Amino acid sequence: MSKVKSNFVCTACGAVSPKWTGQCAECKAWTTLQEQRVEREVSSGGGGNRQATWTGTASPVRDLKAVKPQDMPRISTGLSEFDRVLGGGIVPGSVILIGGDPGIGKSTLLLQTAAAFGERHKVLYATGEESQDQIALRADRLGLSSANIRLASEIDVLALINLFETEKPQLVIIDSIQTAFHPDLMSAPGSVAQLRECSAHLTRYAKTSGCTMIFIGHVTKDGTLAGPKVLEHIVDAALFFEGENGTPYRMLRALKNRFGAINEMGVFAMGHKGLEEVSNPSSLFMTRHEKPVPGCCVLAAMEGNRPMLVEVQALVEDTATPNPRRYAAGLDLNRLQMVLAVLNKHANVDAFDKNVYVKVVGGVRLTEPAADLAVLLALNSSLTDTPLPAGLVAFGEVGLAGELRPVQDAEARLKEAAKLGFTSALMPFADTLPRAIPGFRVISVSRVEEALASLIKIRKAA
Ligand code: TYD
Ligand code: MG
Repeated sequence: MSKVKSNFVCTACGAVSPKWTGQCAECKAWTTLQEQRVEREVSSGGGGNRQATWTGTASPVRDLKAVKPQDMPRISTGLSEFDRVLGGGIVPGSVILIGGDPGIGKSTLLLQTAAAFGERHKVLYATGEESQDQIALRADRLGLSSANIRLASEIDVLALINLFETEKPQLVIIDSIQTAFHPDLMSAPGSVAQLRECSAHLTRYAKTSGCTMIFIGHVTKDGTLAGPKVLEHIVDAALFFEGENGTPYRMLRALKNRFGAINEMGVFAMGHKGLEEVSNPSSLFMTRHEKPVPGCCVLAAMEGNRPMLVEVQALVEDTATPNPRRYAAGLDLNRLQMVLAVLNKHANVDAFDKNVYVKVVGGVRLTEPAADLAVLLALNSSLTDTPLPAGLVAFGEVGLAGELRPVQDAEARLKEAAKLGFTSALMPFADTLPRAIPGFRVISVSRVEEALASLIKIRKAA
């Protein structure tokens, strides 16, 4: 086996150096040198840098029309919320990355998945983070001590792949990819070079053997998957497991999915015996107020194909500081600033001398533009210290010209609101309005000013 060579490349200027130094000799940037592999191993292959291997045999070239796509078989994970996020189950041979904060429940989720999967297929759980005893303890707590799972405490990817050759698992869980290690590289596990090399090797094995790989990944302080945009590019699906501290609810979302939609969300609740699926999360993300409170607006949201009601809360308070605070939790701060600007420009409501806080209840993260109108109404309600009419839900995109733009799935949103006992909805005017629901009032308007004015009418009618 020829020894693999590596050199170090500066991530700032691209200069290459044969050894690692703290400062780049070319551009003088500090700690920008990262190890990269320059020569591919002759015997074991791998996804290294291909510059050195121009002599490979090409796979056959075919006409597109001659390629008959096969229906992708799906294997259920045993957890329907997980299946939903994956687009209907695991595609054999695919590679899935699951990222999330420490302690959020990634190992728990995947141990439960492994146990369910193990009932019909061969599963191997490779742990580099915890000892086998710790995994067994967790399994005990989850009531899964007799589950059909093979455990390996191995972090060397080459050894792992040898292990796969003998064990022949159909699902492999790597807990975590940051602890995986390629012996030919000098850098420590978790470095970009190691992550790239290890995931490339494992991915290659998955694609050639049809075995599915699930990598557990860490996130950095700012919430992105640690190190690796690299990783996100390699895998077929990148999922994110998240939740608010202090609440039992955990959300699984797809950032990327080659085999399904990315807007689906799976909801779980962490209990004493592990994660339980929450198949009807509609009313989880609302608080019960004894009487209507200023600053709260219920949004009829869509998470993938599923309608869900979510409460948006705003607090606007006077401040004497020249730089008032803008705080958004569960919502993009830029979106909040945009809604504030529209309120100011088109409804003459300004908050330039006020602190503004907006929060989405229950740790949900709102990404769809349909949330704009609910944010706007919550802000206006807090600013004017007037609660919104009881039983009202809202949704709609707000444009910079003060117009309200129709959003998808209006009918599903309205139905869900009616089902949960709401009595009216404020939504953008559209050419085709959804069918009427008995006892449920729909007010559709085309501008922000009209939306605010219509609140008075709704209150009078109530
Ligand atoms: P874990 O799966 O170890 O998280 P991760 O792998 O993402 O770091 O889960 C850790 C947390 O979950 C820990 O704080 C304890 C809690 N937990 C429960 O509340 N109930 C349970 O049944 C289990 C197994 C864990
Ligand atoms: Mg863990």
